[in-house]
Amino acid sequence: MSPLDRRRFITRSLLTLGATGAAGAGAAAGILGAAGCSVASADSAGRIAARGRMLDGVAFDGPHQAGILTPAQPQATFVALDAVAATRDELRSALQALSFKARRLARGGRSLTGAADEPPTDCGTLGAVIAPDALTITIGFGASLFDDRFGLAALRPAVLTAMPAFATDELVAAHTHGDLLLQICAGQRDTVVHALRELMRAVHGSLELRWSIDGFQSAARGPSKHSSSRNLFAFRDGTSNPDASDAALMNRLVWMTAAGEGTPAWAVGATVQVVRVIRMNVEFWDRVGLPEQENMIGRVRESGAPLGGDSEFQDPRLDLDPKGARIPLDAHIRLANPRTDATDDQRILRRGYNYHRGFDAAGTLDQGLIFCAFNRDPARQFARIQKRLDHEPLADYVSPVGGGYFLVAPGTGGIEGYVGGGLFA
Ligand code: HEM
Repeated sequence: MSPLDRRRFITRSLLTLGATGAAGAGAAAGILGAAGCSVASADSAGRIAARGRMLDGVAFDGPHQAGILTPAQPQATFVALDAVAATRDELRSALQALSFKARRLARGGRSLTGAADEPPTDCGTLGAVIAPDALTITIGFGASLFDDRFGLAALRPAVLTAMPAFATDELVAAHTHGDLLLQICAGQRDTVVHALRELMRAVHGSLELRWSIDGFQSAARGPSKHSSSRNLFAFRDGTSNPDASDAALMNRLVWMTAAGEGTPAWAVGATVQVVRVIRMNVEFWDRVGLPEQENMIGRVRESGAPLGGDSEFQDPRLDLDPKGARIPLDAHIRLANPRTDATDDQRILRRGYNYHRGFDAAGTLDQGLIFCAFNRDPARQFARIQKRLDHEPLADYVSPVGGGYFLVAPGTGGIEGYVGGGLFA
């Protein structure tokens, strides 16, 4: 979906579900009813309003996993896990448990309490009836999962390698790579936190934490309902992205569409997720004059328009500016996407989040971008872009400190399946 479609999705959901009173109660009943559970009637205006803020559900099952083309929900957590399962069967059970739990959580409904003398089967932090809230749980596998521990080496798609270190990277080992990555996104933070807790419980003893980071989208503050929200350098982010509703384009840029040439049959329908935790030196940035900031990006900060233009989604027409009179030759958008025939197949689908982790030991704000992008082949796409950006002026203001490459396996195909099932077929 294009950024426009993403925004429409969120706005539409909020509009549908945002009303209070009788209409709000009906809308809330609609979401929960769709979840196939019995609907508790709202017993106070407060409860109706609280439910009314929840977003519609997103299906967990399908040919591709959710959370890739899905419009970016406001809240996210990325969790990298290492497999400590003792055997291949134990790993398979953990993957089955992940999908089973993720499917239930995404559908929502009445939470199960379990047997009277057992701990409740749901921790209960969202109450007895769970709204889907657009929850998506996207499961990826790092190259390290395909080592010799679980007999999976022959099944690693050739495009999946460990993320290399790029020229200006300051990668911290404890925040980089991982056997698995869970991307958990939803409308509300408590939905994400609840899902994380339930998923970790489901895989206890088989998968353990390696690193995690929480992200958020800045609120949509206009001026138009299509305007992109801002990153923490205050520029609109997500303006120029391949159109996710164009299936042929997604097949070209995002999905592995056929077996052969290094793609095993089980991986058809997969994509490679690139996650880069990029710290942004915001105090340093805030001391830079606005024209210099805009030249570094190549866009006007307030409107998001390409320099010299007047609206956000206008084509920057780099072809009409070959000497960089309007948009400098080393501007971020020009290097990231030169818009030439030769670079057309290098494009990626970005789906990033802002992060704020408080302060570091020196009292400096620890803020940045969880850069997240999906592509068929990171060597052909992401890495080529990153190499062009290695020495851009913006590089002085950012430090990539973690992340990794993860193969987002194909979708389950249906409720009988589980993500990664093809590895054990
Ligand atoms: C903290 C680091 C970064 C910041 C602050 C940043 C900021 C931006 C901004 C403000 C835009 C223009 C609006 C838009 O089209 O979304 C943009 C575009 C873009 N960025 Fe970044 N970016 C960062 C890192 C990266 C990285 C690591 C890559 C890939 C290696 C990347 C690839 C792109 C691409 C492909 C575009 C679209 C260019 C176009 O088609 O015009 N960015 N970025």
